[in-house]
Amino acid sequence: RIFGTLRGLADVIVVGAETVRLEGYRPARAREAFAERRDAAGQGPAPVIAVVSASLDLDFSLPLFTAPLVPTLVLTGSGAPAERVGAAREAGAEVLFAGEGTRVDPARALAALAERGLRRQLTEGGPRLLGQFVAAGVLDELCLTISPTMTAGDAQRIAGGPPVAVPTRFRVASVLERDGFLFTRYLRS
Ligand SMILES: NC(=O)c1ccc[n+]([C@@H]2O[C@H](COP(=O)([O-])OP(=O)(O)OC[C@H]3O[C@@H](n4cnc5c(N)ncnc54)[C@H](OP(=O)(O)O)[C@@H]3O)[C@@H](O)[C@H]2O)c1
Repeated sequence: RIFGTLRGLADVIVVGAETVRLEGYRPARAREAFAERRDAAGQGPAPVIAVVSASLDLDFSLPLFTAPLVPTLVLTGSGAPAERVGAAREAGAEVLFAGEGTRVDPARALAALAERGLRRQLTEGGPRLLGQFVAAGVLDELCLTISPTMTAGDAQRIAGGPPVAVPTRFRVASVLERDGFLFTRYLRS
């Protein structure tokens, strides 16, 4: 329900290409419970999905690109492989350039989305993409679920990549509990 609510409120969902590939991302759907609210706020029926990729090594025949309610965006750098840019456009996706070479600059990407009116920006990761948002100082809110499970292993952090010199201070905005799971929401102080 929380995941659906976050999506229901968002203008755009920004997600890394690896998460799209591994989780088989599908287009966001219109949720009845949010229809009126979205309409009144001038939002489309469902959030736009914006996939961040340097390689554009994505399966453009998937419904995410060919059959979304609102066209899927692909965020990449200005030096992205032209043939892959063409494949994305042919499938129906819109390609936005927000960086030099093939890399996307996080702040530029979010500004480009905001310029299109997509200002309620939700990222669903993965960790490598989230780490860049954290390092660039553009993350202002975090929803984190903590499960009552103890394990071990070498899983990466929720935000990966090079260390950040000065960590950003966040404060707890809310904590919900259900069956021992904590659904936390933090805001940048
Ligand atoms: N538990 C959770 O809530 C959660 C949430 C999300 C994901 N996940 C899991 O996390 C794993 C994937 O996460 P990940 O960290 O490996 O990958 P990711 O962040 O989802 O995606 C990394 C990919 O995004 C593209 N990318 C990232 N930064 C870029 C930049 N600045 N410019 C251009 N492209 C950029 C690149 O795509 P290209 O390779 O196409 O160039 C890169 O390989 C999956 O197992 C997924 O299931 C878990």
